Amino acid sequence: MTQLESNYTCPWWLLFTFDNPLRKLIHNPHKILRPYVKAGSTVLDVGCGMGYFSLELARLVGPQGKVFAADLQPRMLAGLERRSHKAGLQTVIQPHLCGANSIGLTEPVDMIFAFWMVHEVSDRKAFLQELFSLLKPDGVLLIVEPLIHVTQKNFEYTLDLGNEIGFSEISHPEVAVSRSVVFLK
Ligand SMILES: C[S@@+](CC[C@H](N)C(=O)[O-])C[C@H]1O[C@@H](n2cnc3c(N)ncnc32)[C@H](O)[C@@H]1O
Repeated sequence: MTQLESNYTCPWWLLFTFDNPLRKLIHNPHKILRPYVKAGSTVLDVGCGMGYFSLELARLVGPQGKVFAADLQPRMLAGLERRSHKAGLQTVIQPHLCGANSIGLTEPVDMIFAFWMVHEVSDRKAFLQELFSLLKPDGVLLIVEPLIHVTQKNFEYTLDLGNEIGFSEISHPEVAVSRSVVFLK
């Protein structure tokens, strides 16, 4: 682990400080995700928490698509399952419990979304390498990091690792109180 990496994992109760009904005012999932998700595709929401974005991903891929909603914490996945049943999206969303050192999925995906979670991963290079290998050719990885916890220097470390692994840095879409990058495989 380098000085720019951390072992911190957002606890389930802290999620409610930002994953609440007011969240839509600053992070509109449709607006953030729409440009990168096609109907019928298979996508991965890694570090999905309680699935705030997984629900919109499921609406965008539609009944012919699939959303892997993956997290380290069973309690997050329990919240996600409650929400996906309530929204009637449980046939599209597949919850997945990640291992401590690996996501552990094998099915290739068209798009990966990582919202406010990459800074919590202790071995960022290995993690990005796993994302790279999970993506289909021309697949897109959208990373969004929180402006407050993640300094420009720390975010540049992620950009450097992504470029080193073989991603192409395509753009930096504007997302409120965040730093973001779109990587193409
Ligand atoms: C700050 S929360 C964000 C949750 C969600 N993306 C959202 O925006 O509502 C970060 C999440 O990433 C998860 N996480 C952290 N490290 C992870 C890892 N290595 N693999 C999978 N999930 C991880 C945490 O358990 C937590 O649910």
